[in-house]
Amino acid sequence: MVKKSMKNILVTGAAGQIGTELVMALRQKFGNDNVLATGRKTKPTKQVLNSGPFEFVNINDKESVEKLIKKYDIDTIYNMAAILSAVGEDRPGLCWNVNMNGLINILDLAVQNDLTRVFVPSSIAAFGPETPKNNTPQETILKPTTMYGVTKVSGELISDYYFQKFGLDIRGMRYPGIISNETLPGGGTTDYAVEIFYEAIKNKKYECFVNKDTVLPMMYMPDCIKATLDLMDAEISSLKHHSDFNVTAMSFSVEELADEIKKHIPEFRCTYKPDFRQKIADSWPRSIDDSAARKEWNWKPEYNLAKMTEDMIQVLGKKHEKGKL
Ligand code: SER
Repeated sequence: MVKKSMKNILVTGAAGQIGTELVMALRQKFGNDNVLATGRKTKPTKQVLNSGPFEFVNINDKESVEKLIKKYDIDTIYNMAAILSAVGEDRPGLCWNVNMNGLINILDLAVQNDLTRVFVPSSIAAFGPETPKNNTPQETILKPTTMYGVTKVSGELISDYYFQKFGLDIRGMRYPGIISNETLPGGGTTDYAVEIFYEAIKNKKYECFVNKDTVLPMMYMPDCIKATLDLMDAEISSLKHHSDFNVTAMSFSVEELADEIKKHIPEFRCTYKPDFRQKIADSWPRSIDDSAARKEWNWKPEYNLAKMTEDMIQVLGKKHEKGKL
């Protein structure tokens, strides 16, 4: 059977940190009306709401998702709906239900409706304390200790299984912490790397919930969007991996990040009061080997710590001046 061409896209989690910006990038690329943004209960940004279709839907409600697939003649799904690591530790049952049962609904609907392609994000949370921490290899030990991580490893495996078993073209990568300035992340461990900028600009101080030596892999949103679109555009024949690409752009300690911010805001002070998220951060890699992504679909980031910091401070500074922070 000839598969439909890639043009009618459904994005779940469109009110989330990545979903918000992904919807706008996809609308720019494929046309506003061709990208249906969906969310479970949070309203998306005005920009998302005003630029194209939006519907409330819960990915655990398979029938309602199917109605939207038919109504909008969807051929591609970006499944960005998820419960992140910190909230997942508070509500592990909810985390499993959304991240796994919701995902399986999406994958089954994709098979049943003969969709062209599905994007399923994974995370550095797929790794665990036994994984080598520095330059973490593509193929390595995946024994996470958070429910979020458990769902991410399971999501990678089930996605690769659907690829083999049903021929469904599923792609995904292990996102590092994503730093952005449109929509705040909701309930993750790497949130400090975003909050620090908002607080530096608004209050010139930040109390960080992990210690100053904590190093995690990170990426600025423009690179995250580029990686996502590029992987989805890659020729399938060049992909040896499918749902589990390591990707990264930079690694830094919180202290290094605070020092970089001080270059722009000299009065900025960062203090440290680690909470339960320290243990989660300590179970994840410090840096990532993303050579498979570089080789198979030419992944290359544009932003390092200095360039990202400069841009974040410029964008958030302007928003603050306009009273929009
Ligand atoms: N940013 C996510 C979290 O901290 C990791 O994928 O939960």
